[in-house]
Amino acid sequence: MRTQVGIVGAGPAGLMLSHLLHQRGIDSVVIDLKTREDIEETIKAGVLEQGTTDLMNATGVGDRMRRDGFVHHGINLAFSGAIHRIDLYENSGGRAVTVYPQHEVLKDLIARRLADGGDIRFGISDTTVDGLTGDRPTISFVAEGQRQQLECDFVAGCDGSQTCTRFLMPEGTIRTDFFRQYPFAWFGILAEAPPSSDELIYAHSDRGFALISTRSPSVQRLYFQCDPATDPADWPDDRIWEEIAARVGTAGATIKTGKIFAKGVLQFRSYVCEPMQYGRLFLAGDAAHTVPPTGAKGLNLAIADVHVLDRALGAYYEARDTGLLEAYTQTVLKRVWRAQHFSWWMTSMLHRFAEATGFDLRRQIAELETITSSPSGSRLLAENYTGLPLT
Ligand code: DHB
Repeated sequence: MRTQVGIVGAGPAGLMLSHLLHQRGIDSVVIDLKTREDIEETIKAGVLEQGTTDLMNATGVGDRMRRDGFVHHGINLAFSGAIHRIDLYENSGGRAVTVYPQHEVLKDLIARRLADGGDIRFGISDTTVDGLTGDRPTISFVAEGQRQQLECDFVAGCDGSQTCTRFLMPEGTIRTDFFRQYPFAWFGILAEAPPSSDELIYAHSDRGFALISTRSPSVQRLYFQCDPATDPADWPDDRIWEEIAARVGTAGATIKTGKIFAKGVLQFRSYVCEPMQYGRLFLAGDAAHTVPPTGAKGLNLAIADVHVLDRALGAYYEARDTGLLEAYTQTVLKRVWRAQHFSWWMTSMLHRFAEATGFDLRRQIAELETITSSPSGSRLLAENYTGLPLT
């Protein structure tokens, strides 16, 4: 088999890249270890930046999102017993976020790729990649019991945080890893309940952080800070609702409870791999970087990466111009590090650290007061939360 761009991973980065390339007339084949059902049903993030929704709309995959997603013009920060709204729209020059689950974005992209005749191989195994430093790299994998060879011009490593493609870059000489582990995690639930708030609530409290988010008028997504070793089995529903109410209720929100049908613990880490290119391999999304979930940047960064990569590949195929490909790492890392900073900042402003003293808590409250009461503070948050424009 032969294609122009071999894409490892059918997540947001891989599928969006394949879709964007197709619109330029560039061929790709996408492979993934997971089945289509698994990809379409695994519940992950849910907040899309303005640039992500604009790109989906502009490239014809935004219909269901416009119908079923919720546009939010503000978020709430709860602290010191009160809720403070930040108007994202007013403070970002008319930008907003859309609450629309990641797996729905993936369903939309898969449906569109298949309708356009796209080639996606689900449920493959034993991937190996060779020849990255030459001009004909090959991806080899097993599909339906048979080993297949896929010869390409370029390989896109879009295989998420469990990546194998990142490790094709020699560590030490070529690849440098930047890593930070946080001493806490999020306990996340999905519940059949009405929304507790029209807009998201990010809550700082003496008991730690909590977040009220949503998925639909009848399904709610809520999180609270927990120890990374927490076992969901130790948390019956009543205990979860009491904990969330203790953290957010004190600020004046009334939490509407219901049947909890999913519980899980999300680990917190920041990671960046530099560079993001090695020979004919280009990494995008979580394969190259991970942010802690506070601020919901992960999926949006993946989309921003492939927006740059698509243009760079376009310039190559149009005019054999390699300039944008050579600049890929440098172009993309600017946004990646700004998102790392934003996610780290939101995390450190809102969470309770085990070693925190009275000084640290009061400093956090002062910071939250600056952000909510100063127009410059609110703008800083709103511009970053709704997302820097795609370059
Ligand atoms: C969600 C996740 C986030 O990390 C966040 O900051 C806001 C919302 C969510 O899953 O809904």
